[in-house]
Amino acid sequence: MPCPVQHGSDKTVVLDPYVLDLRAERETLHAAGPLTRVEFPGGVTAWAVTHHEAARALLTDSRLVKDVAHWDDYQSGRIPEGWPLLSTIPPTPTNLLGTDGAEHRRLRLLTAKAFSARTVERLRPRIHELTSQLLDAMEPGADRPLDLKAEFAFQLPMNVIGELYGVDRGEFGYLRDMYVKFFSSVTGPEEFMEVYTALERYYDDMIAAKRAEPGEDLTTELLNAGENGDALTDLEVRGTLQVTVAAGHETTVNLLCGAVRALLAHPDQFALVKEGKVSWDAVVEETLRFDPPTSNMIFRFATEDVGVGDATIAKGEALVVSYGAISRDRAEHGEDPGPDTFDLTRAQGRHISFGYGPHVCPGAALARMEGRIALPMLFERFPDLELAVPDAELANHPSIIVNSLKELPVLLRP
Ligand code: HEM
Repeated sequence: MPCPVQHGSDKTVVLDPYVLDLRAERETLHAAGPLTRVEFPGGVTAWAVTHHEAARALLTDSRLVKDVAHWDDYQSGRIPEGWPLLSTIPPTPTNLLGTDGAEHRRLRLLTAKAFSARTVERLRPRIHELTSQLLDAMEPGADRPLDLKAEFAFQLPMNVIGELYGVDRGEFGYLRDMYVKFFSSVTGPEEFMEVYTALERYYDDMIAAKRAEPGEDLTTELLNAGENGDALTDLEVRGTLQVTVAAGHETTVNLLCGAVRALLAHPDQFALVKEGKVSWDAVVEETLRFDPPTSNMIFRFATEDVGVGDATIAKGEALVVSYGAISRDRAEHGEDPGPDTFDLTRAQGRHISFGYGPHVCPGAALARMEGRIALPMLFERFPDLELAVPDAELANHPSIIVNSLKELPVLLRP
């Protein structure tokens, strides 16, 4: 099989939308760093930052902004219509991910309650309860191969974020199917536009329903946010729901799958957990570093020339933050063991898989809590859990953005 990671003639790294070899791609990107040219499907090119220190510097550099008005290729019509990766950079940014400066700070403030320590702490008993119910529901099929991603890793974060925002339980499956297409890098332009519009319509309907019949949920609170002054517009509530419901499940699903996979692939490390020598916190943190749930975050745009080492992101060019490659940084995480080793006793380095700077993930505490509760409960109930296929057969969903397995087939009670 040819190596899926290719270099163009000018050393541009061609990103593989099918993600046939994520690990090799991360290494290639990291080796080409700290800044390298990358090519996306459709011939769209950008810079990628792939080293830890350079990423921290760029993520706090106010000359790099989310506003697509600063992207020359977009403004001059060089981006194909319906290009699937545009999903994360809508032309009219009305959400946290797409705004900058004062506008961004205002949205962070108006949506802060959802992410506060108190909101997250209040969810603790419910996360326990939901995990227990999901484990019970898997019991009848425990001796047959079962997709742990569909039955468990997806269910928990979707239920948590869905209940928090008052999403109708009957719609969780619909949203899952829509977001699979939304995050795909191979969805065709027409289908992509259909998905995009359907999701907008979905949230518009949800907002109308909550206005007619307010609930005890954060969507209702967002609609009332700032009753005493500043308030979110309906478009901003829709933007917030779009980002938060998507980010609130997809990445945590990947964290849960990544942790299960890593533990099963590294029995020596798993033994340390079973013997109580390392904590489940360490499992969550090392999984976030070893196998970051977000591979590449697109895009930021340069409002002026920004130099990084010998390279320059010219005014009007785009930057992608390659969290997957950044996690391979020897300068940050050390040489022994190197960053490609899953090591729960790792003492050197701190991952930035939740981002860094003004856009740092506000949902990190919730994601961590879900991991720290769900993983020990899963292995306590099913201590002999094993993969139902060889690890090498686990395939990634075709997404350049998220690091998501298609399935995680396991035997709960072999
Ligand atoms: C393991 C799980 C998660 C990972 C790895 C993750 C990762 C990230 C990263 C890397 C960013 C920064 C994006 C950037 O640089 O522009 C981000 C932003 C964000 N995340 Fe998370 N996330 C996770 C879970 C969550 C959860 C559970 C929620 C919601 C409850 C959430 C909501 C958000 C939101 C709203 C933003 C946008 C913040 C902004 O732009 O100001 N995330 N996340």
